[in-house]
Amino acid sequence: MRARITGTGFYVPDKVVTNFDLEKMMDTSDEWIRERSGIVERRFVDSEIGSSGLGAEAAKIAMAKANCQPEDIDFIIFATLSPDYVFPGSGVFMQEKLGIKDIGALDVRNQCTGFIYGLSIADQYIKSGMYKRILVVGGEVHSTGLDMSTRGRDVAVLFGDGAGAAIVEPGDSDDYGILSTHLHADGRFAKELCCEDPGSLKTPRLTEEMIASGTVYPYMNGRQVFKHAVVKFCGAIQECLEANQVAAEQVKLVIPHQANLRITEAVAQRFGWKVHEQVFSNIHKYGNTTAASIPIAIDEAINEGKIQRGDYVVLVAFGSGFTWASALIRW
Ligand code: UT7
Repeated sequence: MRARITGTGFYVPDKVVTNFDLEKMMDTSDEWIRERSGIVERRFVDSEIGSSGLGAEAAKIAMAKANCQPEDIDFIIFATLSPDYVFPGSGVFMQEKLGIKDIGALDVRNQCTGFIYGLSIADQYIKSGMYKRILVVGGEVHSTGLDMSTRGRDVAVLFGDGAGAAIVEPGDSDDYGILSTHLHADGRFAKELCCEDPGSLKTPRLTEEMIASGTVYPYMNGRQVFKHAVVKFCGAIQECLEANQVAAEQVKLVIPHQANLRITEAVAQRFGWKVHEQVFSNIHKYGNTTAASIPIAIDEAINEGKIQRGDYVVLVAFGSGFTWASALIRW
């Protein structure tokens, strides 16, 4: 029996930070950010809610839509690169916030690709019969870890906070549900998009010098990442279509990780799809929310009536690692 997504939800903090707000903090411009990335505004937390707290809010909506209670969930998968603590992972904090006791909680550390990695794990557990109702969440708080000075502008303007959630259960037919997932990584490029400190390589792990030199903030070789992203996005989409013998014209909606509108446009052009109609984009509202971007987009697409039962939906992501992945779902 295939696994199906039976409920989705998303939650973003109320605080809207526009490109004009960022102009006041660093040497950047609304024009630069819009033209290079498509981002107009993003959400930042204004309290100590953490990725687990954002995830819990998204999870409540997803559970309500799937018509289930916290006690019906039998496994948690939480994808994030911004855990509340260095350890333990955000999954257990979210579990506690939702009042769910004793079930397993697994944290996934695959950055922008984290939600698809998590979904892939859930898919296998459901198909094997090990679990019956899995909560998969992608949640991120970037704003507390960005260099909001001109030094960090190339990265800081791109990211936002938020969370998305999905309930995964056995489906009622082999014709519907998650048809396949495809996961990839290439660690040769690990340092092209990373946050070096504080890590376990160094003693002590955190120094004044690390803070002063900025190695505690994310680093990205933007051009290198962009180049690989377009190629890997397209390859991963091709892979999931070929694996299921589904043609590009049969796809109702592609939900790409929201990294950059220009990447989304390049991918749409390669397959002959139209951005907004067939390739979902909400980056203008939330920026790049890494592991949260796909589940947020899925829930928004459903709320906007863009996904109906029987539709072929492609999920695709690329990011730090490098990691990349795709999933084909017949809704
Ligand atoms: O989610 C994970 C995956 N992430 C991605 O896929 C992101 C991939 N990369 C990108 O989306 C793009 O590379 C960026 C949006 C990050 C940057 O766009 P770009 O066209 O590659 O710009 P660039 O990095 O080549 O920078 C161009 C110029 C530089 O100035 P010079 O050297 O030409 O004088 C930068 O210093 O823009 C400057 N710059 C900025 N100017 C104003 C960099 N950041 C900013 C900024 N505001 N925020």
